[in-house]
Amino acid sequence: MSHHFIRFSDVHYSYPGGHEALRGVNFLITHGEKVALLGRNGAGKSTLILLTDGLLSASSGEVNIGDVPVTKKTLPLVRQSVGLVFQNPDDQLFMPTVEEDVAFGPLNMGLPAAEVERRIEAALAAVKATDLRSRSPMQLSGGQKRRVAIATVLSMEPSILVLDEPTSNLDFGARNDLIRLLSDFEHTQLIATHDLDMVRRLCPRSIVLHEGRVLADGPTAAILDDPQVRQALGLTDE
Ligand SMILES: Nc1ncnc2c1ncn2[C@@H]1O[C@H](COP(=O)(O)OP(=O)(O)OP(=O)(O)O)[C@@H](O)[C@H]1O
Ligand SMILES: [Mg+2]
Repeated sequence: MSHHFIRFSDVHYSYPGGHEALRGVNFLITHGEKVALLGRNGAGKSTLILLTDGLLSASSGEVNIGDVPVTKKTLPLVRQSVGLVFQNPDDQLFMPTVEEDVAFGPLNMGLPAAEVERRIEAALAAVKATDLRSRSPMQLSGGQKRRVAIATVLSMEPSILVLDEPTSNLDFGARNDLIRLLSDFEHTQLIATHDLDMVRRLCPRSIVLHEGRVLADGPTAAILDDPQVRQALGLTDE
């Protein structure tokens, strides 16, 4: 279905202070693709991710989710499709309990109580956080916060998942669980990460950002072998 697409067309973004973080970005991600977004610190990955659901608005160019251009008017529609997991879980968790945080999206969508409850249970089970349900998010460990933050997005049952560094802070077991969860999730995924092992296991395609531009876009294995990409990612020894 068309609302599973993400298209960036000549997207520029400058922060209010004037720094141009994106300098003409183009790509199309189609239904069901799992795409890694790679690049060094400051390359523009989080900026790009915030543009996908309208938390930032392009300075010029256009971002589309399916046929829908991301604008102030279309935000409610866009946010029903795009589930965004922030780089920092503290940006995602703001309710007194985990349960309320995970229920927040479904309640906002006006779903009936029984359906909200089903979604809370399913989302917490998916990230193995059922036992955290009554806890205060502020008092969780880094990895627990990460898992709950992912649950708050899964409970909305988005058709596109956009994740910013989802494996940071996770222990080996939780990281493997997450990779399995994402590989079973059949909808479109865009994942900004420095975790190349996950990228090799999960994402057939990678997009490399370098200083706000797309340096490479293609099959992950070929991308990670490319000397120019390796240099841009800091994978070379010099
Ligand atoms: N709020 C802001 N105001 C001004 N400049 C910003 C702001 N946030 C980010 N930047 C700048 O925009 C550029 C891109 O930042 P961004 O956070 O998108 O990078 P990133 O690729 O996600 O890096 P990382 O791997 O460290 O998460 C950087 O040069 C950064 O300093
Ligand atoms: Mg970032």
